[in-house]
Amino acid sequence: MSKFKVMEVRSSRGKNIAEVFWDDGHVSRFHTIWLRCNCRCSVCCRTIVGQSLVERSKLPCQLLVSKGTIHDDGAQINFKLAPETDHVTVMTSDWLRSACYCDACISGMLDEREMKFHLPSESQLPVAEYEQLDTDKGMFELIGTVFDRGFVVVKNVPREDRSVIKTGKRLAPLIETVYGEKFDVIDVKSTENVAYTSIGLPFHMDQCIYEAPQGILLQHALRFDDEVEGGNSLIVDMFHVLDIFRKQSPDDFRVLSRVPVPFSTIDYEIPLPAHVVTRKPIISLDYDDKVVGFNFNPGTEETLRVHEDDVEPFYRAYVRLEKLIYDPKNRLKFRLRSGDMLCINNRRMVHTREGFKTNGGVRHLQACYINIEDLRSKYMVLSRKLNRPVVAPKIGNCSSI
Ligand SMILES: [Fe+2]
Repeated sequence: MSKFKVMEVRSSRGKNIAEVFWDDGHVSRFHTIWLRCNCRCSVCCRTIVGQSLVERSKLPCQLLVSKGTIHDDGAQINFKLAPETDHVTVMTSDWLRSACYCDACISGMLDEREMKFHLPSESQLPVAEYEQLDTDKGMFELIGTVFDRGFVVVKNVPREDRSVIKTGKRLAPLIETVYGEKFDVIDVKSTENVAYTSIGLPFHMDQCIYEAPQGILLQHALRFDDEVEGGNSLIVDMFHVLDIFRKQSPDDFRVLSRVPVPFSTIDYEIPLPAHVVTRKPIISLDYDDKVVGFNFNPGTEETLRVHEDDVEPFYRAYVRLEKLIYDPKNRLKFRLRSGDMLCINNRRMVHTREGFKTNGGVRHLQACYINIEDLRSKYMVLSRKLNRPVVAPKIGNCSSI
């Protein structure tokens, strides 16, 4: 039983487009080349995963709708596309309707995936329990919180060395970086990396140095003694900030979506010698002009080298953006406890820590990264398994879907 039913098919614009009239009043317009390339017949389309077997290079330069016929009481439509004589382009109504690319359907598709913003002043700290990982339901809800809120604090993670890796791997595959498979954030009075001191850090996303920064950052508090003064975690939803920034300073917003910033970690003397560098704008927009990603890490930013006319506008825009990031209204502040594991969507949130005094105590976080696309995949697979339908959320990986 199909959900959507086709009432009528007409050709328009010199037969280059098929107009499909649906039983709920909606009208879709499909180009002939689009119909042919997306044919659902058993020859063109592998039914299990839906991969296309259409050889596009062998298609005629122009296809015209010569006939559109409705079958199975509106559940299927067959198109004869001239000059092809030996092929019928087949569409099931439900699939065709789900693929409609009119403006209303496209914006509906994008809107339902959009992130929902939560004002820090009106939000509780999102928490989950380590034992949730033992059940599909618990895992599904934990991951759902990460995508809904941008982060979650997982309580009572076993306080053992490498626990963060073991826990991370239960969620999604680990991704190594120039710091190896994990790194220890502890005050060792480092002269190389300010993260390994007790100094407060600027807000940042991790690993902008890569073309695709690691998606999920896990920080496990192996020890966070009561004597330690300060060291609170601070988190800001950068997508929310960019939404405000775009409305308040549209010209500045455009500058930061155009002017590229170099980011790098180049050091041949560290235990894992590294030379990783890239150059990209702070704000990533897509085809629909929506924010789909960002890059922000003052600590790994390299010297700006751009056209002369862009220098002052860039710094003016940067200063305004940073003011919004540091606006206390936009940030959530909390203290991790020993055994807590912070799970952050690094492609959505910027984070930092306050400076701290150990006072004879210890603040020791162990951290690693896991793949965000795999985490979302797990979320969707669990949704199906548990019969709890959700729409695949936008996650900040430079894609709107
Ligand atoms: Fe960080």
